[in-house]
Amino acid sequence: MASSDTAAHDVRAPQEKSSAGKGQVMITGTSSGIGRALAKQMVNDGWKVWGVARREAPLRELQQELGESFSFSVADASAPADVARVVREMDVAKFTPDTVVLNAGIYPHDTDNGFASEVAREVISVNVNSALNFVGVLLPRFLSRGRGQFVAVSSLFGVRPDPRGVGYAASKAALSMAFRSLHVCYHRSPVRFKVMYFGPITTEKYFPPSRPHSALAARSPQQAALAIRRLIAGRRVRVIYPGLVGWAFRLSAWLPDLAFETLSKPFKR
Ligand SMILES: NC(=O)c1ccc[n+]([C@@H]2O[C@H](COP(=O)([O-])OP(=O)(O)OC[C@H]3O[C@@H](n4cnc5c(N)ncnc54)[C@H](OP(=O)(O)O)[C@@H]3O)[C@@H](O)[C@H]2O)c1
Repeated sequence: MASSDTAAHDVRAPQEKSSAGKGQVMITGTSSGIGRALAKQMVNDGWKVWGVARREAPLRELQQELGESFSFSVADASAPADVARVVREMDVAKFTPDTVVLNAGIYPHDTDNGFASEVAREVISVNVNSALNFVGVLLPRFLSRGRGQFVAVSSLFGVRPDPRGVGYAASKAALSMAFRSLHVCYHRSPVRFKVMYFGPITTEKYFPPSRPHSALAARSPQQAALAIRRLIAGRRVRVIYPGLVGWAFRLSAWLPDLAFETLSKPFKR
């Protein structure tokens, strides 16, 4: 993880420039959690947002709250036909995003009752393909327009094993490495590929009220959204958030996986 283009940091107000920093952004996974918080913040900050998720009701509710600066498509981002339709819907609305946040993801446990390979397959398909499908369709446009950035929402489980979510850890490792590879491939182009590695974020799906969490390590969806906005506005291409967790990961990089799991278990979901 340690590299000159990687930085762990805590969140302060983003340094977005009033004209250059605002534009049109497409965000996947805006029906709940981090994506929903991000859509709200970006609209309130002057961006036009196009949201994507499978559940229509929460998207419609968000549109009522945010007004005409928020549009959406109901789609399964892991299905190439749905992704093609989303892009057609944006074209018809003359919505041309220059920033794309690929945040959609699922986290089902796949080892609760023995290893469920069908669950692992599904989570890998959703978490990896939903991002790569959009990159495949939108990258040629960004290249010909001469600007654009893709942000992948990954996890520290893409760096260390997750005994409850074998497919999840594999999916986030694949997503991160795909984006790092795209960054190396396109670093001379005007298009940027960035990765956000999140530690624990207290969204309802990941931390229901019944599940305890460490206040030292966990952050709110609103704080996570701010961290994504800083990543969008800045030059770094890989960020770990919260920064404290990022440093703990770096300092313990030499620990074998089993020792790391034992030490970190009290802080995990
Ligand atoms: N919370 C954490 O501790 C944490 C830590 C590390 C990384 N992350 C990552 O952060 C991202 C957001 O997670 P969250 O905590 O905000 O969870 P969340 O509330 O469950 O949000 C996930 C979003 O992804 C959407 N989604 C799932 N599958 C989709 C599909 N096939 N097509 C389109 N949209 C889809 C969901 O909407 P629909 O169900 O309506 O489709 C939902 O809006 C995920 O990628 C997650 O892996 C979270």
